[in-house]
Amino acid sequence: MRIENNHSLLKQNTFGMDVSCACYLEYGSAEELVEFFASGRQFTLPEPFLHIGGGSNLLFTKDFPGTVFHSRIRFIKELSGSGGNVLIEAGAGTLWDDVCVFCAENGLWGVENLSGIPGETGAAAVQNIGAYGAEIKDVVEEVRCFDAVTLAMKTIKAEDCGYGYRTSIFKEGAKGRYTVMSVVLRLSETPKPRLEYGHLRSAVEAGDAEITPAHVRSVVLEIRNSKLPDPSKIGNAGSFFKNPIVPKSSFDVVENYARSKYGKEYEVPHFDAGSGFVKIPAAWLIEQCGWKGYREGNVGVYEKQPLVLVNVTGQARPYEILGLETRITASVRNLFGIELEPEVEHI
Ligand code: EPU
Repeated sequence: MRIENNHSLLKQNTFGMDVSCACYLEYGSAEELVEFFASGRQFTLPEPFLHIGGGSNLLFTKDFPGTVFHSRIRFIKELSGSGGNVLIEAGAGTLWDDVCVFCAENGLWGVENLSGIPGETGAAAVQNIGAYGAEIKDVVEEVRCFDAVTLAMKTIKAEDCGYGYRTSIFKEGAKGRYTVMSVVLRLSETPKPRLEYGHLRSAVEAGDAEITPAHVRSVVLEIRNSKLPDPSKIGNAGSFFKNPIVPKSSFDVVENYARSKYGKEYEVPHFDAGSGFVKIPAAWLIEQCGWKGYREGNVGVYEKQPLVLVNVTGQARPYEILGLETRITASVRNLFGIELEPEVEHI
């Protein structure tokens, strides 16, 4: 276990915010963490407590006055297999994409569409990462956690994780109670390609490559790289906003606006979200407000995907991102009456 005071978080948030925390604690095993809490030593640490993964979905708005926890539990192991299914367990600190590589190399279906998402496996299960028509919840079997109330380990089955669009009980109802130690995934040896999102199918079926998890992974990586900025080159935290889910009546307002501007045949991109609700791509709404490729000071709106705010120079301060967020949100509200919500967690 490593405990450090006044620790810089610059390398631990992909937005590249130059912030620090009063205390930083990194642990290498579940046993270490259980023992630490059982001994009462947590009471010597500055509060509040915050657990981070790869820092790829966070915006630190200022220096953090409490203790940041981070897991170095890194392993991937096969647990069992039957009837074409294989269970694997991955430590919370394992890079999520290492799990995707493991599955691609072993011909296991289930996470290939989630290839290339930055961050660590524990955080992936907390926020139910999703891309190209798949979400991690589709393959989570159970999540193994440290329970800060009972000071013991607890296994939570996927159906009890309260999974929804980029959310779970770990972010909502039980926030702060459970710390993910490892995640058990259920993968399939039987081919289960999910290719319905956008142009994924045509891209996967182009050429004569056999459709394997490794092939789908390579196509997904190509699409991602063509649309999303690489956080190691330009600071960002992926989608900054969630795609809003609005009542059909709000969608009609948007559609009327678009058709009066672009003609009666114009189709606003949208997805049926059930029960009279519609999901509209925030990227489209933001682009309509003229923000795509916008640049101001050290920050900007990515030119290929306006859902992503970027630290253009690497020198951005949190207030610059927050200012841009406020203005984008206000313009979407003014033009469409739709309230964008951040997807990135503000700390
Ligand atoms: N669009 C535009 N202008 C653009 C780009 C996109 O109008 O410049 C519209 C298009 O209609 C396009 C639609 O937005 O069809 C959807 O775009 P895209 O496929 O890029 O996906 P997204 O809805 O913008 C979501 C996730 C991403 C994930 C992609 C791919 C959220 C908040 N974001 O973005 O996740 O990679 O789908 O599946 O749900 C992340 O969570 O950090 C993330 C990057």
